[in-house]
Amino acid sequence: MDWERFYQNADYDRCAYIGGERMADLVERFFEWRGVPDDFASVGCGPAVVPFLLAERYPEADFFGFDLSETVVRDNGERADERGLENLRFAVDALPDLDIDRRFDVVYCVATLYFVKEPKRAIESLYARVREGGHLVLNYPNEASRETFDAEFEGRKRESFELVMSGANLVSENVIREVTGGEMRNYWKLVDAEDEEFVDSATPCVVVEK
Ligand SMILES: C[S@@+](CC[C@H](N)C(=O)[O-])C[C@H]1O[C@@H](n2cnc3c(N)ncnc32)[C@H](O)[C@@H]1O
Repeated sequence: MDWERFYQNADYDRCAYIGGERMADLVERFFEWRGVPDDFASVGCGPAVVPFLLAERYPEADFFGFDLSETVVRDNGERADERGLENLRFAVDALPDLDIDRRFDVVYCVATLYFVKEPKRAIESLYARVREGGHLVLNYPNEASRETFDAEFEGRKRESFELVMSGANLVSENVIREVTGGEMRNYWKLVDAEDEEFVDSATPCVVVEK
């Protein structure tokens, strides 16, 4: 999947790929549980629907979005400026290795690992950017994702999930536990979202404490 080319098409949707705007409400519940972070980083932020909503709702916290696409990062930056959101910033960066040279209270990576080679290295990089006492929220492709996508996706959508289809980047809870060594919880359960229609075995999401 060539994301830069995708975003160079000026008509791309500014959507959240899993759960839409509802995802920001779920992050609010997560903050009720862990406390509002000083800083929050969305890696693979895309159009950054969740960071935009959160930056408006929590002006006292700093929000960051990172993505490999220069185009979406530039568009997001312009939009944040237009809206006067001084607590929301964007930069280009790419998994599995990240250049980000700082840590955050919360690192959030949703609907992104599906497109990343070397998921173990990516999880290591993400967890390394979490401050001690902070949390990684990680949605990842597993064997159920492969089975579901194989049954449901066709054409270009199927092609864009080639790493999942081939099984090349599937992850399990054991892999995450092995890489992070941190305490792990089911994010959907924690934020009481298990009954949401976008939550199923193909969209697992965990919180790992550091
Ligand atoms: C399906 S979108 C999800 C966007 C957002 N996280 C959401 O939930 O709406 C996947 C995003 O991951 C980005 N991406 C893909 N591979 C990446 C990589 N290796 N490193 C960083 N971002 C990546 C793409 O550019 C795209 O914006």
